[in-house]
Amino acid sequence: MDKQKLLDELKAKMEKDDTLPLREGATQLVFGDGNPDSELLFIGEGPGYWEDVKGIPFVGNAGAFLNQLLTRIGLQRKDIFITNVVHFRPPENRDPTDFEIKAFQRYLDEMIDIIDPKVIVTLGRFSMAKFIPGVFISSVHGKERVVDWKGKSKIVVPMYHPAAALRSGEVKLKFTMDFEKLPAILEKADSSNIEVETDKTKVKDEIEQMHLI
Ligand code: URA
Repeated sequence: MDKQKLLDELKAKMEKDDTLPLREGATQLVFGDGNPDSELLFIGEGPGYWEDVKGIPFVGNAGAFLNQLLTRIGLQRKDIFITNVVHFRPPENRDPTDFEIKAFQRYLDEMIDIIDPKVIVTLGRFSMAKFIPGVFISSVHGKERVVDWKGKSKIVVPMYHPAAALRSGEVKLKFTMDFEKLPAILEKADSSNIEVETDKTKVKDEIEQMHLI
């Protein structure tokens, strides 16, 4: 069966699941968006205001910044798949709780199984902790590692959350540099030991010229 059909079925299952938390305060389920056949899956935190209104992940400011960085590396949203660890908006955009993350976990896991990406980019600490628990994002961001996902190898690239990058110039630089590594990581996705360096000065100059939000 094709991946889109399986994802549509999964979405329908989630929409019917009355046990899922956060549903009451939310407008709608924000399932995921993009190309189900992509080798690249991004996982964020949870829907914010605009995502809740539109039913699509990363359509607010953080999403616009993400789109700019995708363009920089020659990709568009239609080339990737993107979702979150929780799929209803937490009230006032608060952090999702462990209980909430656990409740959505089986659906996110099924989404990963269906898409079967080679590379998973985690955006922020909640999705990072799913694959790489017990670490600080400040120590591991941009350092890809191979994780075992139900007997299959996946490359996980932990990155800062784009909203954090929008709040701090230093994080923006780190996030942008980490993003620049993605094409090489994708190219070498079959190798388990990849070291990719980017030129900090060059990226800094380019960021200034980009007039990022
Ligand atoms: N932040 C997230 O983590 N996910 C979204 O979908 C939007 C903003």
